[in-house]
Amino acid sequence: MSAQIIDGRAVAAAIRDELKERIARLGRTVPGLAAVVVGDDPAAASYLKGIARGCEAAGILHHEVRLPEDVTQQALESAIAVLNADDRFHGIILQLPLPRRLDTLRAESAISPDKDVDGTNPVSAGKLLLGEDTFFPSTAFGVKELLVRSGHSPEGLHVVICGRSNIVGKPLAGMLMQKQPGANATVTVCHTGTRNLAEITTTADILVAAIGRARAITADMVREGAVVIDVGVNQVEDPLTGKPRLVGDVDFDAVARKASAITPVPGGTGPVTAAMLLSNTVLAAERWNATRLRGRQGG
Ligand SMILES: NC(=O)c1ccc[n+]([C@@H]2O[C@H](COP(=O)([O-])OP(=O)(O)OC[C@H]3O[C@@H](n4cnc5c(N)ncnc54)[C@H](OP(=O)(O)O)[C@@H]3O)[C@@H](O)[C@H]2O)c1
Repeated sequence: MSAQIIDGRAVAAAIRDELKERIARLGRTVPGLAAVVVGDDPAAASYLKGIARGCEAAGILHHEVRLPEDVTQQALESAIAVLNADDRFHGIILQLPLPRRLDTLRAESAISPDKDVDGTNPVSAGKLLLGEDTFFPSTAFGVKELLVRSGHSPEGLHVVICGRSNIVGKPLAGMLMQKQPGANATVTVCHTGTRNLAEITTTADILVAAIGRARAITADMVREGAVVIDVGVNQVEDPLTGKPRLVGDVDFDAVARKASAITPVPGGTGPVTAAMLLSNTVLAAERWNATRLRGRQGG
Protein backbone atom coordinates (compact mmCIF):
# COMPACT_ATOMS: atom_id res chain seq x y z
CA MET A 1 0.00 0.00 0.00
CA SER A 2 1.18 3.54 -0.70
CA ALA A 3 -0.36 6.14 1.55
CA GLN A 4 -2.34 9.20 0.52
CA ILE A 5 -0.24 12.24 1.46
CA ILE A 6 -2.32 14.63 3.56
CA ASP A 7 -1.32 18.07 2.28
CA GLY A 8 -1.12 20.44 5.24
CA ARG A 9 -0.30 23.42 3.03
CA ALA A 10 -3.52 22.93 1.03
CA VAL A 11 -5.60 22.57 4.21
CA ALA A 12 -3.97 25.70 5.65
CA ALA A 13 -4.68 27.63 2.43
CA ALA A 14 -8.36 26.62 2.59
CA ILE A 15 -8.55 27.79 6.24
CA ARG A 16 -6.91 31.11 5.35
CA ASP A 17 -9.41 31.60 2.47
CA GLU A 18 -12.28 31.12 4.92
CA LEU A 19 -10.66 33.69 7.21
CA LYS A 20 -10.91 36.35 4.48
CA GLU A 21 -14.70 35.92 4.47
CA ARG A 22 -14.90 35.89 8.26
CA ILE A 23 -12.80 39.05 8.52
CA ALA A 24 -14.95 40.77 5.90
CA ARG A 25 -18.03 39.94 8.00
CA LEU A 26 -16.44 41.69 11.01
CA GLY A 27 -17.02 45.05 9.34
CA ARG A 28 -14.96 47.80 10.93
CA THR A 29 -13.38 45.50 13.53
CA VAL A 30 -9.84 44.59 12.52
CA PRO A 31 -8.73 41.44 14.39
CA GLY A 32 -5.54 42.01 16.36
CA LEU A 33 -2.94 39.64 17.78
CA ALA A 34 -0.29 40.64 20.32
CA ALA A 35 2.72 38.45 21.09
CA VAL A 36 4.60 38.80 24.36
CA VAL A 37 8.24 37.80 24.02
CA VAL A 38 10.86 37.57 26.77
CA GLY A 39 14.52 37.72 25.67
CA ASP A 40 15.80 37.27 22.12
CA ASP A 41 15.98 33.58 21.30
CA PRO A 42 16.62 33.19 17.50
CA ALA A 43 14.26 30.20 17.14
CA ALA A 44 11.47 32.20 18.77
CA ALA A 45 12.25 35.16 16.54
CA SER A 46 11.89 33.05 13.40
CA TYR A 47 8.58 31.54 14.65
CA LEU A 48 7.25 35.02 15.46
CA LYS A 49 8.35 36.35 12.08
CA GLY A 50 6.22 33.62 10.47
CA ILE A 51 3.24 34.60 12.60
CA ALA A 52 3.71 38.28 11.74
CA ARG A 53 3.81 37.45 8.02
CA GLY A 54 0.66 35.31 8.34
CA CYS A 55 -1.17 38.10 10.15
CA GLU A 56 -0.15 40.66 7.55
CA ALA A 57 -1.31 38.48 4.66
CA ALA A 58 -4.65 37.77 6.37
CA GLY A 59 -5.33 41.40 7.35
CA ILE A 60 -4.81 40.86 11.07
CA LEU A 61 -3.16 43.61 13.12
CA HIS A 62 0.03 42.27 14.69
CA HIS A 63 2.13 43.64 17.52
CA GLU A 64 5.06 42.31 19.53
CA VAL A 65 5.81 43.32 23.11
CA ARG A 66 9.49 42.56 23.69
CA LEU A 67 10.63 42.28 27.28
CA PRO A 68 14.23 41.92 28.46
CA GLU A 69 15.58 38.53 29.53
CA ASP A 70 15.77 39.75 33.15
CA VAL A 71 12.16 40.99 33.30
CA THR A 72 10.44 40.40 36.64
CA GLN A 73 7.34 38.25 36.99
CA GLN A 74 5.40 41.34 38.02
CA ALA A 75 6.52 43.36 34.99
CA LEU A 76 5.63 40.46 32.69
CA GLU A 77 2.16 40.17 34.19
CA SER A 78 1.72 43.95 34.01
CA ALA A 79 2.56 43.89 30.30
CA ILE A 80 -0.07 41.19 29.80
CA ALA A 81 -2.60 43.22 31.82
CA VAL A 82 -2.04 46.21 29.53
CA LEU A 83 -2.81 44.02 26.49
CA ASN A 84 -5.86 42.54 28.22
CA ALA A 85 -7.26 46.07 28.45
CA ASP A 86 -6.31 47.09 24.89
CA ASP A 87 -9.31 46.71 22.55
CA ARG A 88 -7.08 46.66 19.46
CA PHE A 89 -5.86 43.19 20.39
CA HIS A 90 -8.39 40.37 20.53
CA GLY A 91 -5.75 37.68 20.94
CA ILE A 92 -2.62 37.46 23.10
CA ILE A 93 0.11 34.84 22.89
CA LEU A 94 3.04 34.34 25.22
CA GLN A 95 6.19 32.97 23.59
CA LEU A 96 7.44 29.87 25.46
CA PRO A 97 9.63 28.71 27.01
CA LEU A 98 10.09 31.54 29.48
CA PRO A 99 13.38 31.84 31.40
CA ARG A 100 13.28 29.19 34.14
CA ARG A 101 13.09 31.68 37.02
CA LEU A 102 9.70 32.93 35.73
CA ASP A 103 6.45 31.16 36.65
CA THR A 104 4.94 30.09 33.31
CA LEU A 105 1.58 28.99 34.71
CA ARG A 106 1.12 32.30 36.52
CA ALA A 107 1.98 34.22 33.36
CA GLU A 108 -0.41 32.10 31.26
CA SER A 109 -3.10 32.59 33.88
CA ALA A 110 -2.67 36.36 33.55
CA ILE A 111 -3.90 36.28 29.94
CA SER A 112 -7.62 37.03 29.82
CA PRO A 113 -9.49 33.82 28.84
CA ASP A 114 -11.34 35.98 26.26
CA LYS A 115 -7.99 36.68 24.52
CA ASP A 116 -6.23 33.37 25.19
CA VAL A 117 -5.90 32.32 21.53
CA ASP A 118 -3.19 29.74 22.33
CA GLY A 119 -5.53 28.10 24.87
CA THR A 120 -2.86 27.98 27.60
CA ASN A 121 -4.76 29.65 30.44
CA PRO A 122 -5.99 26.96 32.91
CA VAL A 123 -9.54 28.26 32.39
CA SER A 124 -9.26 27.49 28.65
CA ALA A 125 -7.75 24.07 29.37
CA GLY A 126 -10.55 23.24 31.82
CA LYS A 127 -13.26 24.34 29.40
CA LEU A 128 -11.68 22.26 26.64
CA LEU A 129 -11.92 19.17 28.84
CA LEU A 130 -15.53 19.96 29.73
CA GLY A 131 -16.42 20.32 26.05
CA GLU A 132 -17.29 24.01 26.51
CA ASP A 133 -16.62 26.82 24.01
CA THR A 134 -13.05 28.03 24.40
CA PHE A 135 -9.84 28.46 22.39
CA PHE A 136 -8.11 25.22 21.42
CA PRO A 137 -4.27 25.20 21.36
CA SER A 138 -3.34 25.72 17.70
CA THR A 139 -1.39 22.52 17.07
CA ALA A 140 -3.99 20.21 18.62
CA PHE A 141 -6.76 22.13 16.84
CA GLY A 142 -4.78 21.80 13.61
CA VAL A 143 -4.53 18.02 13.95
CA LYS A 144 -8.31 17.78 14.33
CA GLU A 145 -8.87 20.06 11.31
CA LEU A 146 -6.37 18.08 9.22
CA LEU A 147 -8.18 14.84 10.01
CA VAL A 148 -11.68 16.15 9.36
CA ARG A 149 -10.84 18.20 6.28
CA SER A 150 -8.86 15.37 4.65
CA GLY A 151 -11.84 13.03 5.06
CA HIS A 152 -10.51 11.10 8.05
CA SER A 153 -12.95 12.06 10.77
CA PRO A 154 -11.96 10.34 14.01
CA GLU A 155 -15.58 9.65 14.98
CA GLY A 156 -15.95 6.13 16.37
CA LEU A 157 -12.29 5.29 15.74
CA HIS A 158 -9.41 4.42 18.04
CA VAL A 159 -6.96 7.32 18.13
CA VAL A 160 -3.59 6.67 19.76
CA ILE A 161 -1.65 9.82 20.65
CA CYS A 162 2.05 9.44 21.45
CA GLY A 163 2.95 12.39 23.68
CA ARG A 164 1.14 14.08 26.57
CA SER A 165 2.46 17.64 26.48
CA ASN A 166 0.18 20.46 27.61
CA ILE A 167 0.25 22.03 24.14
CA VAL A 168 -0.29 18.96 21.93
CA GLY A 169 -1.05 15.53 23.41
CA LYS A 170 -3.30 16.47 26.34
CA PRO A 171 -5.49 19.05 24.57
CA LEU A 172 -5.80 16.80 21.50
CA ALA A 173 -6.97 13.90 23.69
CA GLY A 174 -9.43 16.24 25.43
CA MET A 175 -10.81 17.48 22.11
CA LEU A 176 -11.13 14.12 20.37
CA MET A 177 -12.88 12.40 23.29
CA GLN A 178 -15.79 14.88 23.27
CA LYS A 179 -19.22 13.67 22.19
CA GLN A 180 -19.18 16.13 19.31
CA PRO A 181 -19.00 16.04 15.51
CA GLY A 182 -15.43 15.64 14.26
CA ALA A 183 -14.47 14.04 17.59
CA ASN A 184 -16.25 11.22 19.50
CA ALA A 185 -13.18 8.98 19.25
CA THR A 186 -11.81 6.37 21.63
CA VAL A 187 -8.54 7.93 22.71
CA THR A 188 -5.41 6.37 24.17
CA VAL A 189 -2.49 8.57 25.24
CA CYS A 190 1.03 7.08 25.36
CA HIS A 191 4.22 8.54 26.86
CA THR A 192 7.60 7.46 28.18
CA GLY A 193 5.92 5.49 30.95
CA THR A 194 3.96 3.38 28.46
CA ARG A 195 4.95 -0.28 28.42
CA ASN A 196 4.99 -2.11 25.09
CA LEU A 197 4.30 1.02 23.06
CA ALA A 198 4.10 -0.87 19.76
CA GLU A 199 1.40 -3.19 21.15
CA ILE A 200 -0.79 -0.11 21.65
CA THR A 201 0.16 1.88 18.55
CA THR A 202 -0.63 -1.10 16.30
CA THR A 203 -4.25 -0.97 17.54
CA ALA A 204 -4.66 2.62 16.29
CA ASP A 205 -6.98 3.51 13.43
CA ILE A 206 -5.42 6.96 13.69
CA LEU A 207 -1.92 7.34 15.11
CA VAL A 208 -0.68 10.79 16.17
CA ALA A 209 3.04 11.20 16.88
CA ALA A 210 3.92 14.19 19.08
CA ILE A 211 7.01 13.09 20.94
CA GLY A 212 9.92 15.11 19.56
CA ARG A 213 12.22 12.24 18.51
CA ALA A 214 13.29 11.89 14.91
CA ARG A 215 11.71 8.87 13.17
CA ALA A 216 10.81 7.20 16.51
CA ILE A 217 7.61 5.72 15.05
CA THR A 218 8.74 2.89 12.81
CA ALA A 219 6.70 0.77 10.39
CA ASP A 220 6.37 -2.16 12.82
CA MET A 221 4.54 0.20 15.22
CA VAL A 222 1.82 1.02 12.68
CA ARG A 223 -1.24 -1.02 11.70
CA GLU A 224 -1.71 -1.69 7.96
CA GLY A 225 -4.11 0.99 6.65
CA ALA A 226 -3.85 3.35 9.64
CA VAL A 227 -3.95 7.13 9.24
CA VAL A 228 -0.74 8.67 10.61
CA ILE A 229 -0.41 12.31 11.70
CA ASP A 230 3.15 13.43 12.39
CA VAL A 231 3.38 16.49 14.64
CA GLY A 232 7.11 16.16 15.29
CA VAL A 233 9.65 18.64 13.97
CA ASN A 234 13.24 17.50 14.48
CA GLN A 235 16.41 18.80 12.93
CA VAL A 236 18.79 16.09 11.69
CA GLU A 237 21.86 16.10 9.49
CA ASP A 238 21.16 14.97 5.94
CA PRO A 239 23.60 12.07 5.29
CA LEU A 240 23.92 13.01 1.61
CA THR A 241 24.52 16.75 1.91
CA GLY A 242 25.72 17.01 5.52
CA LYS A 243 23.30 19.93 5.89
CA PRO A 244 20.58 20.17 8.54
CA ARG A 245 17.07 19.15 7.50
CA LEU A 246 13.71 18.72 9.23
CA VAL A 247 12.12 15.33 9.80
CA GLY A 248 9.12 14.24 11.81
CA ASP A 249 8.65 11.72 14.62
CA VAL A 250 7.61 9.12 12.03
CA ASP A 251 9.91 7.10 9.79
CA PHE A 252 8.07 8.52 6.79
CA ASP A 253 9.24 6.35 3.87
CA ALA A 254 8.67 3.01 5.60
CA VAL A 255 5.42 4.02 7.33
CA ALA A 256 3.99 5.53 4.11
CA ARG A 257 4.14 2.03 2.57
CA LYS A 258 1.89 0.69 5.35
CA ALA A 259 -0.46 3.57 6.24
CA SER A 260 -3.52 4.55 4.21
CA ALA A 261 -2.79 8.27 4.74
CA ILE A 262 0.08 10.22 6.28
CA THR A 263 1.22 13.82 6.82
CA PRO A 264 4.68 14.82 5.58
CA VAL A 265 7.24 16.90 7.50
CA PRO A 266 7.55 19.66 6.49
CA GLY A 267 4.19 20.50 4.88
CA GLY A 268 1.88 18.60 7.23
CA THR A 269 0.83 19.82 10.67
CA GLY A 270 3.11 22.92 10.72
CA PRO A 271 1.23 25.11 8.22
CA VAL A 272 -2.11 24.14 9.77
CA THR A 273 -0.91 25.11 13.26
CA ALA A 274 -0.08 28.58 11.93
CA ALA A 275 -3.48 28.87 10.23
CA MET A 276 -5.31 27.83 13.42
CA LEU A 277 -3.64 30.60 15.42
CA LEU A 278 -4.96 33.12 12.89
CA SER A 279 -8.36 31.41 12.99
CA ASN A 280 -8.44 31.63 16.80
CA THR A 281 -7.56 35.33 16.60
CA VAL A 282 -10.45 35.93 14.21
CA LEU A 283 -12.70 33.89 16.52
CA ALA A 284 -11.66 36.12 19.44
CA ALA A 285 -12.56 39.20 17.37
CA GLU A 286 -15.91 37.63 16.38
CA ARG A 287 -16.71 36.97 20.04
CA TRP A 288 -15.61 40.49 21.02
CA ASN A 289 -17.83 41.98 18.29
CA ALA A 290 -20.81 39.85 19.34
CA THR A 291 -20.40 40.90 23.01
CA ARG A 292 -20.16 44.56 22.02
CA LEU A 293 -23.28 44.26 19.88
CA ARG A 294 -25.21 42.59 22.71
CA GLY A 295 -24.03 45.41 25.03
CA ARG A 296 -25.34 48.05 22.60
CA GLN A 297 -28.67 46.24 22.33
CA GLY A 298 -28.78 46.12 26.13
CA GLY A 299 -29.09 42.32 26.09
N1 LIG B 1 3.85 20.91 13.90
C1 LIG B 1 3.71 21.87 14.80
O1 LIG B 1 3.11 22.89 14.57
C2 LIG B 1 4.30 21.66 16.15
C3 LIG B 1 3.86 22.42 17.24
C4 LIG B 1 4.36 22.09 18.50
C5 LIG B 1 5.30 21.11 18.64
N2 LIG B 1 5.75 20.43 17.54
C6 LIG B 1 6.72 19.34 17.63
O2 LIG B 1 6.03 18.22 18.17
C7 LIG B 1 6.91 17.43 18.95
C8 LIG B 1 6.33 17.32 20.34
O3 LIG B 1 6.25 18.60 20.91
P1 LIG B 1 5.78 18.83 22.42
O4 LIG B 1 5.96 20.25 22.72
O5 LIG B 1 4.47 18.17 22.60
O6 LIG B 1 6.96 17.98 23.15
P2 LIG B 1 7.27 17.71 24.69
O7 LIG B 1 6.68 18.75 25.56
O8 LIG B 1 8.72 17.44 24.75
O9 LIG B 1 6.50 16.35 24.97
C9 LIG B 1 6.89 15.15 24.38
C10 LIG B 1 5.98 14.06 24.83
O10 LIG B 1 6.36 12.86 24.15
C11 LIG B 1 6.56 11.82 25.10
N3 LIG B 1 7.63 10.96 24.61
C12 LIG B 1 8.93 11.26 24.43
N4 LIG B 1 9.60 10.19 23.94
C13 LIG B 1 8.69 9.19 23.83
C14 LIG B 1 8.77 7.85 23.42
N5 LIG B 1 9.90 7.31 22.99
N6 LIG B 1 7.64 7.12 23.43
C15 LIG B 1 6.47 7.64 23.85
N7 LIG B 1 6.33 8.91 24.26
C16 LIG B 1 7.43 9.68 24.25
C17 LIG B 1 6.92 12.51 26.40
O11 LIG B 1 6.57 11.65 27.47
P3 LIG B 1 6.73 12.08 29.02
O12 LIG B 1 5.55 12.98 29.31
O13 LIG B 1 6.64 10.79 29.74
O14 LIG B 1 8.05 12.77 29.13
C18 LIG B 1 6.06 13.77 26.32
O15 LIG B 1 4.76 13.53 26.82
C19 LIG B 1 8.26 18.16 18.87
O16 LIG B 1 9.00 17.59 17.81
C20 LIG B 1 7.88 19.58 18.53
O17 LIG B 1 8.92 20.25 17.82
C21 LIG B 1 5.26 20.69 16.31
